[in-house]
Amino acid sequence: MTKTSGMPSGVDVKGFKLPIVGLGTWALRDVVRVVGEAIRVGYRHIDTAQMYGNEAEVGEAVRASGLRSEIVVTTKLQPTNLAPREVERTGKESLRKLGLDAIDLLLIHWPNPGVPLADTLGAMAKLKQEGVTRAIGVSNFTVALIEEAVRVSPAPIVCNQVECHPFLNQDKVIAACRKHGMAVVAYSPVARGEASGNKVLERIGAKYGKTGPQVSLRYLVQQGIVVIPRTNKLPRLKENFALFDFELSDAEMREIHALSSRDGRIVDWSWSPNWD
Ligand SMILES: NC(=O)c1ccc[n+]([C@@H]2O[C@H](COP(=O)([O-])OP(=O)(O)OC[C@H]3O[C@@H](n4cnc5c(N)ncnc54)[C@H](OP(=O)(O)O)[C@@H]3O)[C@@H](O)[C@H]2O)c1
Repeated sequence: MTKTSGMPSGVDVKGFKLPIVGLGTWALRDVVRVVGEAIRVGYRHIDTAQMYGNEAEVGEAVRASGLRSEIVVTTKLQPTNLAPREVERTGKESLRKLGLDAIDLLLIHWPNPGVPLADTLGAMAKLKQEGVTRAIGVSNFTVALIEEAVRVSPAPIVCNQVECHPFLNQDKVIAACRKHGMAVVAYSPVARGEASGNKVLERIGAKYGKTGPQVSLRYLVQQGIVVIPRTNKLPRLKENFALFDFELSDAEMREIHALSSRDGRIVDWSWSPNWD
């Protein structure tokens, strides 16, 4: 990471720059308006997915901003689209829906054990070569899957997007990402709102005039972890972006880490991999 205080910065992964604060858009309502407002607030990183059904709206807002070249747009291949032919077809379809010059970052949304990883990553690397996407990455990958992906991918894997917040211990997967020089992108970074009202986070935040969710987000960015909180509310868009005028002490970082456990996971599905 280049900077943790002052103006928002980003992580540079193998030459690909990922702004450290992004906007999540899963289940976001009124997408064009909210993404537009987020860009006006200063967000330069928008997270969408084929599964969210809102790529067209995200693209519309990015184009309308007039700031396209500054913004990183991530989208994700849904697990049923990981066979090479589907990667190619639906990757191009995502780009068409976004209506942009290229996807910036294309991820495997969830691993699919029914499709060889080498085939999927090979097809994604081809899309990168063709300019459909600028970079590729993964999401919901475990340590074992990261190791396999790094071994078989023809193109660099710039990130692993995983659930990450103070209540879930992700030490193992974070260490594996660091080992391979990949960014960690934290989804559900305010624990779907649970960071609000948490006594420890609120007490620490009060010292800096910050809220529990801001402490949760600062805890992550201070470790160089990219965050993509989602909110429909303009005041919270600003709140979730105001992370660069305070710094948590080492003791506070340790106290927040102590809130985490292996069973603090919120997002878990029948198709989830065997978590670390
Ligand atoms: N790769 C994956 O499998 C995966 C899985 C899940 C999510 N994601 C991505 O990560 C993004 C974020 O994760 P998420 O949506 O699961 O959870 P989140 O960002 O941790 O939480 C969103 C919820 O918290 C509330 N909230 C946001 N900021 C707040 C604040 N400052 N104070 C109090 N409440 C606040 C929002 O409500 P209001 O709208 O009412 O503010 C919303 O209900 C998603 O939108 C999606 O882009 C990816």
